[in-house]
Amino acid sequence: MSDKTVLSGMRPTGRLHLGHLHGVLENWKKLQDEYHCLFFVADWHSLTTEYADPGSVQENIHEMVVDWLSVGIDPEKAVLFVQSKVKAHAELHLLLSMITPLPWLERVPTYKEQAENLKDKDLSTYGFLGYPLLQSADILIYKADCVPVGVDQVPHVEFTREVARRFNNLYGEVLPEPQHLMTKYPKLPGTDGRKMSKSYNNSIYISDSEEVVAKKLKRAMTDPQRVRRDDPGDPDLCPIYDYHRIYSSSDQKEFVQNGCKTAGIGCIECKTILTENVLAELAPFRARREKLLKSPGTIRDIIEAGNKKACEIAEKTMEEVRGAMKI
Ligand code: TRP
Ligand code: SF4
Repeated sequence: MSDKTVLSGMRPTGRLHLGHLHGVLENWKKLQDEYHCLFFVADWHSLTTEYADPGSVQENIHEMVVDWLSVGIDPEKAVLFVQSKVKAHAELHLLLSMITPLPWLERVPTYKEQAENLKDKDLSTYGFLGYPLLQSADILIYKADCVPVGVDQVPHVEFTREVARRFNNLYGEVLPEPQHLMTKYPKLPGTDGRKMSKSYNNSIYISDSEEVVAKKLKRAMTDPQRVRRDDPGDPDLCPIYDYHRIYSSSDQKEFVQNGCKTAGIGCIECKTILTENVLAELAPFRARREKLLKSPGTIRDIIEAGNKKACEIAEKTMEEVRGAMKI
């Protein structure tokens, strides 16, 4: 066990899918055995884009935390909390805003990209521009050494290092510069071959029932050149094979490779092997979820205990920050 601190957050998007499972949660599960980990729900960050319609945020938080717990994110090992319950993040955000030059925020690449992607929303707000700085406060307030993030978030961690450096130059060494820990996302497309995403309606959710998982895979896209049963296919052009890469044994993968290329097996047979493997992975998660949902107080207690621990760590840093800034 290392004495380093690892921190990561997720915006509450509701139910999580297999992309989140293999891209993020499996990594968190490994990290929680090796480091002091803090994992939190970034609900204030959601408001930067959802401010006009915040009604679903609470429900999304609940669904996401249930997914975390059901896959084995363990409150005995990691501190799990909700950002908006640790008010010190807002205080640090405010204090850091005093020293953050506007051009630093304007040149963060996600700023322009996101504003382009979400054209239907008015994102000319102060909160949206400040998104990366709020993230810096999240990270620096726990003096995190490592921040596991996907490639799109790396600029935010780099930005955090710059903010920490500026703070330390002005007021003395208080805030350690965090490193990003880049998480490699294994390729796991949605059932239509595009990126798996809630908005494309092509996701397989961790909480889907066995029937729904089976049905989604049955209808999922395959190599488009394999129109008839006796057309040979190419697994490298088939989204289903991307799943086999993650879910299947070497023997099974060889069987599918040969069978597909020679039209020796049909897509139904190929998908049956896969479906069994996916269901086997999800079964223990489903059992844990059912147990959890039978005692709803448990989830609330876990989060309240996590919030409390997080508040204690955050408050310690804030005392140093206030002292350094003479406030
Ligand atoms: N911006 C991150 C995302 O969209 C979520 C996040 C907020 C975060 N604060 C953080 C991630 C601090 C890591 C550390 O995924
Ligand atoms: Fe895809 Fe399997 Fe069908 Fe080949 S046999 S096209 S890998 S689903």
